[in-house]
Amino acid sequence: MAGMDLPDTSLPEHGTPREELFADLRARKTADADWRGGRTWSLVYPAGEDVDAVLKEAHDLYLYENALNPFRFPSLADMEREVVAMTAGLLHAPAGASGSMTSGGTESIMQAVRVARDRARAERGVTEPTLVVPRSAHPAFAKGAKYFGLELVQIPLDDDLRADVHAAADLIDDRTALVAGSAPNYPHGVVDPIPELAALAASRGVPFHTDACVGGFLLPFMERAGREVPPFDFRVPGVTTMSADVHKYGYATKGASVVLHRAGEHVLQYQAFLYQDWPGGLYGSLALAGARPAAPVAAAWAVLKYLGVDGYVKHVERILATASAIREGVRELGLRVLGDPVASVIAFTGERIMAVGDLMDDRGWHLDRQNDPDALHLMVSPEHDRVVGQFLADLRDAVANAGESRGVQARYS
Ligand SMILES: Cc1ncc(COP(=O)(O)O)c(C=O)c1O
Repeated sequence: MAGMDLPDTSLPEHGTPREELFADLRARKTADADWRGGRTWSLVYPAGEDVDAVLKEAHDLYLYENALNPFRFPSLADMEREVVAMTAGLLHAPAGASGSMTSGGTESIMQAVRVARDRARAERGVTEPTLVVPRSAHPAFAKGAKYFGLELVQIPLDDDLRADVHAAADLIDDRTALVAGSAPNYPHGVVDPIPELAALAASRGVPFHTDACVGGFLLPFMERAGREVPPFDFRVPGVTTMSADVHKYGYATKGASVVLHRAGEHVLQYQAFLYQDWPGGLYGSLALAGARPAAPVAAAWAVLKYLGVDGYVKHVERILATASAIREGVRELGLRVLGDPVASVIAFTGERIMAVGDLMDDRGWHLDRQNDPDALHLMVSPEHDRVVGQFLADLRDAVANAGESRGVQARYS
């Protein structure tokens, strides 16, 4: 983790000439993952040079503004509302729904957790709240539980790696502030049984969150493309909040996600922080941060408008074709895909799988490692269709030559 051991660096006494500065920056960057070459399988979601150009131009226009104050920069407030509205429409939020943009999936989830905790306290008198999530739920839920003082309760997974509904029934009780499921989850790319989980929660008067950070901008376009998509959005009764990341499969640059509340302004009040007990005037914010970068808001708005439904459908088709080629290629090599992933996320295991990962590292491919069971993990982006042949050829080689693993730790990056 950055920041553990501080380098022996102090602020230079004199400024650095620009040429020297940028030569240094470029040199430093050569050690970073080659995402443009399609070598990374998470973290960045490349969708092509035309999308990059749109993102850059939007960033450039809004590099310096501050999204904290909607009165100074009304264009930002408008764009943010429009991004939220476009997302709400895609996810079939009913009229009167509300929401906000956040800095990313983690903040969207943490806001949903905080709102649920405060609602449980105010509306049901819950003082020792629990948060009930599948074992495969993103760590953002655990982070939210830790930050906001909830007890995390994990729902075990079924054989198909989706949350076990029967087990969930025993875990939800009077203390439960929120139940959640993923669409799809990060580790296996499968969609939890959202209708069953949401119905269980609703039957006990508990809100339910669908984490569509990955699927929010994938599943709706799969549906438009005529693919079968498990129910996951606000059309499912009992789903009260959702998170969807524009900075994943919306292809925006980092710092753009949406949190949505089915119940509108009344619930958004719980998310809002208003303060005036100081000499600086009324301070209001829906975000965890104070000052907020404007560029991600503008970039998210721009890419959504630029691609439109047909642009996203085109990209989702590319992703699905690549993902299916990878699943097939992986199985042909005698490896096993975990669960039945719906879209872009694939985890696979097999003999000496961690050593296979080491050899793929040596060839410059960046695959995340998982445990329980040991597995390699990838998330397909549109631009991966350019490298899938090479990837599978290298994987074949790695499987044939895998010896002892170097013992790279299972990690999430
Ligand atoms: C299913 C899921 N939820 C939430 C998140 C958190 O998103 P972020 O990294 O933008 O905070 C991720 C990130 O990969 C994810 O895969």
